[in-house]
Amino acid sequence: MQSQGINPDSEVHGVLCNLEREILRLKRGMNAVILAHYYQDSEIQDVADFIGDSLQLSQQAAATKADVIVFAGVHFMAETAKILNPGRAVLLPDLEAGCSLADSCPPHLFCPFREQFPDHLVINYINCSAAIKAMSDIICTSSNAEKIIRQIPDAQPIIFGPDRNLGRYLVRRTGRPLKLWQGACIVHETFSEQKLLRLKIRHPAAKVLAHPECEERVLRNADYVGSTTGILNYARNSPDREFIVATEPGIIHQMEKACGEKVFIPAPPEGNCACNQCPHMRLNTLEKLYLCMKNRSPEIILDEQLRLRALRPIQRMLEMS
Ligand code: 13P
Ligand code: SF4
Repeated sequence: MQSQGINPDSEVHGVLCNLEREILRLKRGMNAVILAHYYQDSEIQDVADFIGDSLQLSQQAAATKADVIVFAGVHFMAETAKILNPGRAVLLPDLEAGCSLADSCPPHLFCPFREQFPDHLVINYINCSAAIKAMSDIICTSSNAEKIIRQIPDAQPIIFGPDRNLGRYLVRRTGRPLKLWQGACIVHETFSEQKLLRLKIRHPAAKVLAHPECEERVLRNADYVGSTTGILNYARNSPDREFIVATEPGIIHQMEKACGEKVFIPAPPEGNCACNQCPHMRLNTLEKLYLCMKNRSPEIILDEQLRLRALRPIQRMLEMS
């Protein structure tokens, strides 16, 4: 197994190969499954059993027969896996791997917001804590949000949280007047429209693929808007050869694997920084993945009453997807 961009003769490459071998040995020994999100480092993606978007990862977690789920993603993703699997150990390589969007919706503020609109159905994006899930009627992800909202009768008013950009996008797509929580993701709000337009001038044939967590000024320049898996599938099935990718650039690893002959250009952030990389996702490393499996820690632990309340809206999502 060769790690992207690392000289195969180097010492670093040898260490990575040893880690990969150890991870696979531990995985067999503990009957574990490794689930990874597309935003993880490519070395982590390469040792995973399954790589997917939030919906696919929760579907995999719901279906697994493994004794241990090793979740290479962020905290809310591993927590969702634990909500679905109380009897299985769920490990997260770095417990600090949070999510700016989930953090933008603290339960003590969301609770009074929800109480202002007692007749509203609460649909929350999966990027939120178990406490917020427990205050929701239905959970959704970027790949099923529109489908779920379209199943709700027109007369039923809806609160949508926590992502205001996905929320505004859904208002446009469905024509429904959603009551929006004003949360956002720091990564998807970093893209610069001006730099994107300049990039499009340099690459006139390139199609712009954007995640709906991006702001309207980026989405209005997109040829396709969808979840991470949606973006990957669009690139795979498109006859076009050049793409500008307005989401976390970790996904480009799978895009290049799926279509080696095509060119993928990360959409540029506002500053001269790497702030289009998710700082939370990137806390996980191959070393931490190995250590969490070796030590069976850190493990996600959840209060059972909270788990049961958070489970209902996730089950509704899985039924409605
Ligand atoms: P997906 O549901 O498309 O995987 O998105 C998850 C996420 O955190 C995007 O920032
Ligand atoms: Fe959260 Fe944004 Fe990172 Fe996705 S990219 S995990 S929404 S901080």
